Formats: sequence, C-alpha cells, structure tokens
Amino acid sequence: MKFIVAIDGPAAAGKGTIAKAVAKYFKFPHLDTGLLYRGVGKKALAYSRTSYYPEIAKQLALDLKPVDLEANDLRTPEVAKAASKIAVIPEVREVLLDFQRNFANQEGGAVLDGRDIGTVICPYAHVKLFITASAEIRAIRRYEELKNNGLEISFENVMRDVVSRDKRDQERNASPLIIADDAYEIDTSSLSANDAVGVAIDHINEKFKNL
Ligand code: CDP
Repeated sequence: MKFIVAIDGPAAAGKGTIAKAVAKYFKFPHLDTGLLYRGVGKKALAYSRTSYYPEIAKQLALDLKPVDLEANDLRTPEVAKAASKIAVIPEVREVLLDFQRNFANQEGGAVLDGRDIGTVICPYAHVKLFITASAEIRAIRRYEELKNNGLEISFENVMRDVVSRDKRDQERNASPLIIADDAYEIDTSSLSANDAVGVAIDHINEKFKNL
C-alpha cells in the first residue's frame, strides 16, 4: 500500500511536531525535508561566498550524505537562513527531488514535511495538510525551542529571522511556499500541540475511510 501524507507550512508552524506524531500513530516513516536544505545550507556556510552560485550550490547538494543530516547544529538560525538562500536555487531543488519522491513512494506509506510537498514533490499525495500560525506565535515557539537548546538569542532576532525566511520562501520562483488547492489548513495559533496532532489524525483517518 502507498499512502502519502504531505505536510507544508511556514517556518516554525509546528509541521515537524505534527509530522512526527502522525508518522508514529500510523506507523509510517517520516522525512523532514527541511533537514536536506539545512544540510546543504550548512555546507554553503562552510564553503565560501560563491556557495550561492547555482553550479556550486548544486555540487554541494550532490555531495550531501545521510551522515550530514545527523549533525547536531542544523537547527540554528544561521543554518536556517543559509538553507532558505540555497532553497531558491532551482538546480539545488532538482538534485533533492528524486530522493524525496522515492521516499514518498515507498510501500507502506510515508509522511513528508516541508514547503512544496503537496504542490511539487507529491501533487498526488493522499492527504495534504497546510500548518499555519500567526508570525508572533511561531516566533515565540521557535524562541523557546532555541533557548531550550542552549542558544543565546533575542526574541526580536528570532521574529525577524522567521518573517524574512517566510518572505524568501513565498517569493521565490522555484517551488514557492503556497497552499495547494486541495490542502486542509490547520491554524495552530490557539491549539496545544496535542490538539493540533488530534485534528491532523482525525482528518487523515477520514481520508483513509474514503480511499
Ligand atoms: O523548521 P522550519 O520550519 O523553521 O524550517 P525547515 O522546515 O527546517 O526548512 C528550512 C528552510 O529550508 C526553509 O526556510 C526553506 O527555505 C527550505 N525548505 C524548502 O525550500 N523546501 C522544503 N521542502 C523544506 C525546506
């Protein structure tokens, strides 16, 4: 059986939390596609100012290895910003496409979260969720998360990073962040993580029933 759950949304909306919980509940493997872009972004930071030239960025993406995705410093704001800068480059997105599609199409089902899963990677996904929350709530959540991970950062900087990354993700030409016509939107602004997961699971179960 193939059953694809595509989860998209802006920065720090709770996609990861929902994707992980849904994957656990349905016993599907989960791919956080943001990690792929963060992995290439980290390489770009370490390389040079020419990292954002398409041919060089493409090579950095080709060089990405599974072990790169296990680094414990991929969640920093610096890497997130670099990720969003390499994510505008079509050559980079092209390199990462097959891996994501193959993951999605494995037997037994799959959950993928990112920005373009329901629109470009898996337009034929069985379920598409679009997770949102107000920019302020998202920045508060990300600020708490970074603080808990020991990062010293001001709330104002987190807010600025989240807003500028969203803008770059929404305005790029290659696979911009947009809601798919057939996506089910969940605004998590006033939901607890548990409640948001519950809404997602109920919706997926409905889709299952109507298969
Ligand atoms: O966790 P958060 O929502 O802040 O970010 P992420 O999902 O880890 O993604 C980091 C960056 O990678 C995003 O801001 C996008 O620029 C890029 N990305 C993308 O372009 N397409 C995806 N499918 C996933 C991430």
